[in-house]
Amino acid sequence: MENNTLKKIDLIFADYTTSKYKILEKTILKKPDEVINEIIDSGLKGRGGAGFPTGLKWKFTKNEDNPVKYVVCNADEGEPGTFKDREILERVSRKVLSGMAICGHAIGAKEGYIYLRGEYSYLAPKLMAEIEIFDDFAKKANLDFKIFLRMGSGAYICGEESALFDSMEGKRGEPRNKPPYPTVSGYNSCPTVINNVETFATVQIICKIGAEEYKKLGTTDSRGSKLFSISGDTPKAGIYELELGMPLKEFVEEFGDGDTKSVQVGGASGFCVPRKHFNDTIIGFEGIPTGGSMMIFNSTRSMYNVLHDYLEFFNEESCGQCTPCRVGCQQLLKGIEAVKKGEKKPQYLEELKKLALTMKVAAKCGLGQSLANPFNSIVDNFREEIIY
Ligand SMILES: Cc1cc2nc3c(=O)[nH]c(=O)nc-3n(C[C@H](O)[C@H](O)[C@H](O)COP(=O)(O)O)c2cc1C
Ligand code: SF4
Repeated sequence: MENNTLKKIDLIFADYTTSKYKILEKTILKKPDEVINEIIDSGLKGRGGAGFPTGLKWKFTKNEDNPVKYVVCNADEGEPGTFKDREILERVSRKVLSGMAICGHAIGAKEGYIYLRGEYSYLAPKLMAEIEIFDDFAKKANLDFKIFLRMGSGAYICGEESALFDSMEGKRGEPRNKPPYPTVSGYNSCPTVINNVETFATVQIICKIGAEEYKKLGTTDSRGSKLFSISGDTPKAGIYELELGMPLKEFVEEFGDGDTKSVQVGGASGFCVPRKHFNDTIIGFEGIPTGGSMMIFNSTRSMYNVLHDYLEFFNEESCGQCTPCRVGCQQLLKGIEAVKKGEKKPQYLEELKKLALTMKVAAKCGLGQSLANPFNSIVDNFREEIIY
């Protein structure tokens, strides 16, 4: 498997001067297809977690035969252990606004929306001020693109793209059936590009340095660098930009406390990697992809408690719309509690793992579908900590 060594990078937060929208100004002089091809060429994949190729998403949306299209920036950042988007919005929001406007130019949209996590309301005044500066620039540059701010209300499920559109439309935020995908029917049932905050900031960087330069970083499957939110048992908690494709072993050597027993890669809905697999795990799309959350646990931590916390979280946040997830979340939680108390035999864990896999195929959205990631990886690797 292709990999590289751990390298700290400084692109996202670099070169943020007071000079206004230079890269945007230059990019909107290019033809929309040229811009889309540059993004496709760069190999950029969405930084929100799922990793869909950004340029292709833009191309599909552009190709839709509808005069009204939208750009939406997903700033809901609800995944436990993820805290990088708020930092981008706090420190380099102009790059995000530029990325959104570049997208608008590329797909033919006139409106863009930032859907901001409810708990980040403190960022709203600063963002509104930046949006005003953007409006001034757009007027002078004859750019027909307006950006609006929409507040979320603190529901994890509203980070799921289709639930987010419902929430923006004033409805209760619940995932929709797919297809149709947002590229065909998103906000107000119109073709919509929805991308993560970091994805839009990265678009601005690619337009600045060019796809050729950008793809020198990373691996064939995971081009570029990305931000990692690092927390847990580490002396270096914080946000770091790292080249994609590094072995987890090197990550642990750099950020662990010398006693790391596992790393939860990709937040509560991601995978728990035990020490014995640090060597053979690559952080990237060829190994374990991540929206950037890396939670480090040392040997003082109970993995039963960790799993219990995750399951409580998912029970709380499941929208309850579909049975596999609504009932499955409860049963997984009750199940490990019963095993821990000795009310159920350890073999019951096998039944629970099958339930989690059933949710993977039967649940309606990514919340229910991804529960098998943390559940099965923790049960498989830390069984002795779960049983009575
Ligand atoms: C339950 C759930 C929560 C999500 N929360 C977020 C979020 O907070 N931020 C985000 O960018 N993507 C989130 N996503 C992924 C989005 O649905 C979508 O894939 C993403 O915004 C696309 O942007 P990208 O291609 O730039 O990654 C979530 C998905 C699920 C299933
Ligand atoms: S999987 Fe869970 S969160 Fe998603 S639609 Fe079903 S009940 Fe709602």
